[in-house]
Amino acid sequence: MSTPSFPTLTQALASINQSHLLTYYPSLSPDSQSKLLAQIKALDLRHIPKWVSEYVTAKPDATTASTSINPAPYYAIHDTSWDRSKYAKVGEQLLRDGKVAAFTVAGGQGTRLGYDGPKGCYPATPITNKPLFQVFAEGLLAAGRKYGRPIPWYIMTSPLNHAQTVAFFTQHSHFGLNAKDVKFFEQGVMPSFDMVSGKILLAAKDELATNPDGHGGAIRALDISGSIADMQSRGIAYLSYFQVDNPSVNIVDPVFLGLHAAAPDSSGEMSSKMVRKAGPDEKVGVFVSIDGRTQVMEYSDMPPALSKATLADGSLKFPGGSIAIHIISVEFLSRMASDARFALPFHRAEKKVPHVDLSTGNLVNPERPNAVKLEKFIFDALPLCKNSLVYETDRLEEFAPIKNATGTDSAESSKDLQSTRAARWLESVGVKVPRHTNGTVNALIELSPLTAIAPEDLKSKAASIKIDPGARITL
Ligand code: UD1
Repeated sequence: MSTPSFPTLTQALASINQSHLLTYYPSLSPDSQSKLLAQIKALDLRHIPKWVSEYVTAKPDATTASTSINPAPYYAIHDTSWDRSKYAKVGEQLLRDGKVAAFTVAGGQGTRLGYDGPKGCYPATPITNKPLFQVFAEGLLAAGRKYGRPIPWYIMTSPLNHAQTVAFFTQHSHFGLNAKDVKFFEQGVMPSFDMVSGKILLAAKDELATNPDGHGGAIRALDISGSIADMQSRGIAYLSYFQVDNPSVNIVDPVFLGLHAAAPDSSGEMSSKMVRKAGPDEKVGVFVSIDGRTQVMEYSDMPPALSKATLADGSLKFPGGSIAIHIISVEFLSRMASDARFALPFHRAEKKVPHVDLSTGNLVNPERPNAVKLEKFIFDALPLCKNSLVYETDRLEEFAPIKNATGTDSAESSKDLQSTRAARWLESVGVKVPRHTNGTVNALIELSPLTAIAPEDLKSKAASIKIDPGARITL
């Protein structure tokens, strides 16, 4: 594609009501002029009017018009009618055959955590405060040793944190992983729009205001970065997808892999893990089946009447909380990246975005949301699958997210959950763990993934582990 000339660009911007982007252009230095032009040229100008009218100046109704919303079916954890060990064997074989890679989405801004850096660098473990990235790296090292094949790791960053993320890994020698097996790629950005006029905001006189395009942007970013081709050349068929905020993720779960690849009701495209929601108001997406298709309804889009609906026994009618862990087949990714029929929709969020006031030329920091940010969500690919399955797992085993600075889903709550899970794993192999009379663990335990990525890895070590009441112990 040829690069548009300046007059063509001016005309194109005028035709889509975005000429204001060049307001300061004549007064900019040559470097600033080039920077601004490069950003404008990277925009998908053809689609901007449609995005503005559909998502910015109008509010699309996120709730579905369908009346047939049901809880999505799932493989229940305590259901003995399906054979876990059969699927575990399938998954283990895929790992031994080198068919599996890990994929972490780490491009988010982490605003709620109030941490000024890539979230993956955030201290996460109960005693040694290992950063999230190190926990995942050690999990992958351990799994690679267990199954006899290194597990490549693809990490999606955003332009806001890419350089810092890569530098962090380099500084820590990739936490023991082979650098050639850790691949970073940047997700794209979307312009941020003024909520009322639909005009793209200027973050500075020579810079558009932009935001990362959501984890759904991964599909395009994986493709254009050459990551899909890299996976194909390595013979990778399945991605174990997880978010950067959950140190308890079972990094490559053989049962889940096996179900995805071999269960009779899986189309082998994209599968999901769920836990039972902690309560009606828990901020997790919910697995629903709409017109027979499994999908995630995001917590912000779920009508309260549905979130609170109960069955006769008082339990939630929609119990399936998404912990944002999926298996995605590389073939499905590649199909989505190349076929426009698989384009994911945008989600609209109203945000406070600092910008240049065009009437004064000054930078303003709005007190109220002034802008619309558009993002794509990877889980919107689920209803595009022929048949997508959901697998229930135990919350304590796999979900200890760090999202907030304090309280629920904070580092403090996560560390407590990590220690409690470690206690459970140790007890399962016969180690005596001191507990308070109310049942909580009377010790703080940090279990490195290099010591165990599953309870059975502790069997050979159990005899030598002693934990005194009140101890702080790192294993
Ligand atoms: C997310 C899910 C929610 C799920 C919950 C489980 C979304 C929209 N919602 O909620 O359904 O129940 O996790 O913990 O994802 N990210 C990017 N690029 C972006 C935006 C986000 O890589 O442009 C990454 C973040 O780094 C993070 C993850 O996506 O790893 C989740 O982002 P966040 O927006 O914090 O989602 P939650 O509200 O926590």
